[in-house]
Amino acid sequence: MSAVPPRRFPASFWWGAATAAHQIEGNNVGSDWWAREFAAGTDVKEPSGDAADSYHRFGEDIALLAQSGLRMYRFSFEWARIEPERGFISRAQLLHYRAMIDTCREHGVEPMVTLHHFTHPRWFARLGGWRSPLAPELFQRYVEAVLPILRDVTWVCTINEPNMVAMTRGEEGTDMAAASLPEPDLQISQALVLGHRRAREALSSLPDVKSGWTVAAQAFHAMPGCEEETRAYGYPREDFFLEQAAGDDWLGVQAYLRTFIGKDGPVPVAEAAEKTLTGWEYFPAALGIGVRRAWELSGHTPLFVTENGIATDDDARRIDYTHDALVGLHDAMADGIDVRGYLHWSWLDNYEWGSFAPTFGLVAWDRETFARTPRPSAAWLGSVARDGILTHPAR
Ligand code: BGC
Repeated sequence: MSAVPPRRFPASFWWGAATAAHQIEGNNVGSDWWAREFAAGTDVKEPSGDAADSYHRFGEDIALLAQSGLRMYRFSFEWARIEPERGFISRAQLLHYRAMIDTCREHGVEPMVTLHHFTHPRWFARLGGWRSPLAPELFQRYVEAVLPILRDVTWVCTINEPNMVAMTRGEEGTDMAAASLPEPDLQISQALVLGHRRAREALSSLPDVKSGWTVAAQAFHAMPGCEEETRAYGYPREDFFLEQAAGDDWLGVQAYLRTFIGKDGPVPVAEAAEKTLTGWEYFPAALGIGVRRAWELSGHTPLFVTENGIATDDDARRIDYTHDALVGLHDAMADGIDVRGYLHWSWLDNYEWGSFAPTFGLVAWDRETFARTPRPSAAWLGSVARDGILTHPAR
């Protein structure tokens, strides 16, 4: 018998899971990522191809999410499909994404829509991507084009992990397990802030929308005596982006791992540490740390956990990780931090920017038939969601 009192979450707390278009839809042929996957001499291990074919199977994916007990689905609109050529807005694609919103509602699932999740239309990349002086305006025009299908949507994320976009210069797939994250391009960082502000401004014409962006929280830990180095390393890679969220309707925290910073920058993960399929240290406490930091640096902006999860082939370990991450989240909420929901990454096994090998999904699918198989972790998280009480099946 555990002496710990049950960890209850508020009845209004949103429980759900997240995905992103390029990682599950398949055949995102108009995007810069697809172009990179198939370029001669590409550095990408494996192309996204059909991915999970969720472009056609989203109805089943949303129905399964609802059946599991989860009540929110975070998914992204694909800019490269909606505006495949500069200035041409595809009505058919707008109707497609509107159908996803309607399907969520039919199943009693609240949609959270991400407008930009790492990929761009090829024409935007050819202009220089976020380095183009036109980038914030072009992004704003795309956002204006999707306003009609967002008319009754509340939760909108403008840009996913702007800090990763600035570090990878739009080339996600940069090995995040490598000890050192690239130096962010400050011009891109500024353009993303501007794009975010312009998007929020456009979205404010819809009275019900609550908009924000989502930031990768990396739990930088100083080695003894390296506090200053850690601050200098972490500020442009994380804190800057959290600070920019002050005054937004909400801020998304996405936490997976921690990184130790020494005199010469990041220190590789210790040999003896347990590692996940992405090569990251198994470190569920990252979530509580990320939430506390986001709350402080954003000047107490309401938070959402918009991503948290683990790439593993051991689903019991996924439950352990998620349970322990939720303990840290609950502690932060008990200390007065306003967190509105928890969205697990990911609902489905996803294309992990170069490979399908790191499996993050609560749901697996067959590479030949696309048949979905929810894992026990999906039922477990769904039951936590239904009861509003954190439990662990084996503890
Ligand atoms: C991204 C996802 C990615 C996940 C796991 C986040 O950085 O938003 O696209 O799959 O982490 O690496």
